[in-house]
Parts: sequence; structure tokens; C-alpha cells
Amino acid sequence: MKRGKRTWMFIFIVPLALCVTGFPPFSEMPAQPIDFPHNVHAGAKKIPCQYCHTGARRSPVAMIPSVDRCIGCHKIIAADKAEIQKIKGYYERGEPIPWVRIFTLPDFAFFNHAPHIQAQVKCQMCHGPIETVDRFRQRPAIEMGWCLKCHREKNVSVDCYICHR
Ligand code: HEC
Ligand code: HEC
Ligand code: HEC
Ligand code: HEC
Ligand code: HEC
Repeated sequence: MKRGKRTWMFIFIVPLALCVTGFPPFSEMPAQPIDFPHNVHAGAKKIPCQYCHTGARRSPVAMIPSVDRCIGCHKIIAADKAEIQKIKGYYERGEPIPWVRIFTLPDFAFFNHAPHIQAQVKCQMCHGPIETVDRFRQRPAIEMGWCLKCHREKNVSVDCYICHR
């Protein structure tokens, strides 16, 4: 089969251009200590988001489940897989898994999950279709304008002090 000009462009020119200009921000997303697949858990296996992120309904933070929670299922499920062996390592050493934070705001901005979840705002409205994602590849930039847009649409307060205390 004859390779067209476009194919060669993707093989040579694009990688070269990326090396020169620097990779776009998503490649800076460091790998997680465990390659955790949301599409398997929340997609194929339909485990509810709040089964793992138990803080969302009642506190500012949604929370990442502890290693004990993982072991609750993975003592048996897929126990022979390499990634699961790594989880067992953390569990046996009594160490938390050092997950890398993805969604984050600067310190001067306050966010609280609880009122949003109680007002039936879906996780996906803010985080995207997580149940289809095998892993996070980029760290999204959250901007004030985006918070304000939805607050105005839903008639929620936009007073500075609710988010800047
Ligand atoms: C089996 C447990 C489990 C389920 C179910 C689950 N998650 Fe997660 N979630 C995790 C773990 C572990 C991490 C940390 C690893 C990572 O970032 O991929 C995480 C990370 C996240 C993050 C990024 C946190 C950060 O660092 O900013 C978001 C957002 C998230 N989950 C949303 C969801 C949503 C929405 C659902 C349902 C559609 C869901 N999760 C279902 C375990 C789970
Ligand atoms: C209104 C928008 C919004 C909704 C709805 C929302 N989140 Fe978040 N989430 C955020 C923002 C903003 C952050 C970063 C907060 C910070 O850095 O203080 C965040 C952070 C997180 C984190 C990492 C930090 C933490 O709180 O533990 C997880 C995990 C998470 N969200 C999961 C969820 C899940 C699961 C749902 C649904 C049950 C959900 N979120 C609904 C906006 C939202
Ligand atoms: C409610 C049960 C349950 C919980 C809790 C759970 N998992 Fe899973 N996990 C599963 C199932 C089911 C699969 C799919 C196994 C399969 O395909 O054979 C899976 C698959 C995986 C895989 C892919 C294994 C592979 O290589 O095929 C990883 C990695 C994983 N889980 C990590 C975690 C981590 C980390 C936690 C804790 C934050 C966690 N799981 C919590 C049920 C769970
Ligand atoms: C998709 C819509 C949506 C987005 C996006 C959104 N919010 Fe909200 N927000 C709401 C709703 C709905 C409420 C609940 C109002 C209620 O309790 O009646 C709320 C409530 C709040 C409250 C509590 C208000 C109070 O009166 O105590 C804070 C704080 C807040 N949001 C901060 C934020 C921040 C910060 C962001 C951006 C990072 C954000 N919100 C993004 C819809 C949204
Ligand atoms: C619904 C939540 C919310 C409300 C209401 C809100 N802010 Fe913000 N604000 C944020 C978030 C989140 C950020 C951080 C993200 C960013 O820099 O855009 C931020 C950032 C800022 C910044 C830094 C901007 C920059 O470019 O670094 C200033 C200044 C600011 N807000 C002022 C205000 C003032 C003044 C008001 C009232 C008129 C207000 N904010 C109302 C959520 C809010």
C-alpha cells in the first residue's frame, strides 16, 4: 500500500513540531500509581459514583476511596493481575495509594460538592463523561466564568463571598 503525504506528515512532521513547540498540557498529566479504569468500574460494571466517592453528598470534598475499599472487591476479583498486585502491596504495607490530584482550584476559591449534589447537579455536568474514560489524560483549567454561567442559569447566588471567603 502506498503511503500518502498525510501519513508521512503524521509520522515525521507532527512529532517533530511537538518536540520543538513543547507538548500540549495534557501530556504533562503524570501517570497514576495504579492504572485505575473508570470505564470498567463506573461504565461496564455500573458501580455508582457515590459508592466510591462517598463524601460528595454531604461534604465539600467527594473523596477518593481508601485502599481497604479496593481490596474489599479485589481480594478476589482479578486478583492475579499486575495492577491489583500493586494495590495489595499498598494494602499490606499499610500505605495509602498516592493518587495524583486532577481537578483542583486555587486556594482563594471555595468549592463545596454537597449543595450541588443535593440540588441534583450531575457529576458529569462538571467532570464530563467519566464512565467512558479509561484514564484521565489532562488536567482541566476551571475558570470562574464557567461557575458563574451555571449559577446565573439556575438562579443561584453569584455574590463574591460564596466562593471567596
Ligand atoms: C470503584 C471506585 C470508583 C468509582 C465507582 C468511581 N470512581 Fe472516580 N475515582 C476513583 C479513584 C480510585 C480515583 C483516583 C484515580 C484517578 O484519578 O483516576 C478517582 C478519581 C475521580 C476524579 C478525579 C479526582 C481528582 O483528582 O480530581 C473524578 C472527577 C471522579 N473520580 C469522578 C467519578 C464519577 C463522576 C464517577 C461515576 C460516573 C466515578 N468517579 C466512579 C474511584 C472510583
Ligand atoms: C458543580 C460542579 C461539580 C459537580 C456537580 C461535581 N463536582 Fe467534583 N469537583 C468539582 C470541582 C470544582 C472540583 C475541584 C475542587 C477543589 O479543588 O476544591 C472537584 C473535585 C472532585 C474530586 C477530587 C477532590 C475531592 O473532592 O475529593 C472528586 C473525586 C470529584 N470531584 C468527584 C465528583 C463526583 C463523584 C461527583 C458527583 C457525585 C462530582 N464530583 C460532582 C466540581 C464538581
Ligand atoms: C465493587 C467492587 C469493586 C471495587 C470497590 C473496586 N473494583 Fe476494581 N474492578 C472491579 C471489577 C468487577 C473489575 C473488572 C475485573 C475483570 O474485568 O475481570 C475491576 C477492575 C479493576 C482494574 C483492572 C484490572 C485489570 O488489569 O484487568 C483495576 C486496576 C482496578 N479494578 C483497580 C481498583 C482500585 C484501585 C480500586 C479502589 C480505588 C478498585 N478497583 C475498587 C470491581 C471493583
Ligand atoms: C452546572 C451548574 C453549576 C456549576 C457549573 C457550578 N455550580 Fe455552584 N451551584 C449550583 C447549584 C444548582 C447550587 C445549589 C443552590 C442551592 O442549594 O439551592 C450551587 C451552589 C453553590 C454554592 C453554595 C451556595 C450557597 O448559597 O451557599 C457554592 C459555594 C458554589 N455553588 C460554588 C461553585 C463554584 C466555585 C463553581 C465552579 C468551580 C460552581 N459552583 C459551579 C450549580 C452550579
Ligand atoms: C460561583 C463561584 C464564584 C463566584 C460567585 C465568584 N468567583 Fe471569583 N473565582 C471563582 C473561581 C473558581 C476562581 C478560580 C478560577 C479562575 O481563576 O478563574 C475565581 C477567581 C477569581 C479571581 C482571580 C482571577 C484571575 O484571573 O486570577 C478574582 C480576582 C475573582 N475571582 C474575583 C471575584 C469577584 C470580585 C467576585 C464577585 C463579583 C467573584 N470573584 C465571584 C469562583 C467564583
